[in-house]
Amino acid sequence: MEGLARKGIIGLMLVMVVMITVEGASSNLHKVGVRGWIPNYNYTEWLNQQHEHFYVGDWLYFVFDKHYFNVLEVNKTSYESCNDQGFIRNITRGGRDVVELTEARLYYFLSSGGYCWNGMKIAISVEQLPPTPAPAPAKSGSSLTLSSTTASLMILSAAFYVALI
Ligand SMILES: *[C@@H]1O[C@H](CO)[C@@H](O)[C@H](O)[C@H]1NC(C)=O
Ligand SMILES: *[C@@H]1O[C@H](CO)[C@@H](O)[C@H](O)[C@H]1NC(C)=O
Ligand SMILES: *[C@@H]1O[C@H](CO)[C@@H](O)[C@H](O)[C@H]1NC(C)=O
Repeated sequence: MEGLARKGIIGLMLVMVVMITVEGASSNLHKVGVRGWIPNYNYTEWLNQQHEHFYVGDWLYFVFDKHYFNVLEVNKTSYESCNDQGFIRNITRGGRDVVELTEARLYYFLSSGGYCWNGMKIAISVEQLPPTPAPAPAKSGSSLTLSSTTASLMILSAAFYVALI
């Protein structure tokens, strides 16, 4: 019984530590497109409908079929002309790929293989985080809070750790 109570207290403490650690981190994971990264879709229109803000430290999440499509970061000129040569960065890994937006600037992504011509291009304007952390703005449907996901994972592993004690 005593051991059980000890486990309970340690578990509670771990969860509290986790919650304190997570508080303050507010980077968002933005899934690109309603149905992911696909051709014949206007991502500029999608952005206009979202009214979503992208801040430094946020992440983009591209979901696509890696057998056909990819995600390359390019410069403005290449974005406008659908030029997939001499890209800046290759984001492609397994088709469920993330990229961190580390600077306040415009980011340009496209898919090579000619799919850029079918609309697979997106320009994301990344803003500096607002200076005062205002009350949490209402999140739109496709924006997932990374911190809460991380929190659940950490609580899970904390529970697992307690079970091992
Ligand atoms: C996509 O939508 C934007 C904004 O509505 C528009 O300016 C642009 O021409 C569209 N692109 C295509 C390829 O239809
Ligand atoms: C953009 O990238 C292309 C391809 O690497 C390059 O030819 C071009 O000079 C670059 N443009 C600018 C403005 O950096
Ligand atoms: C991008 O990276 C992926 C995974 O490493 C690779 O399979 C693919 O060939 C690369 N694409 C280009 C255009 O370099």
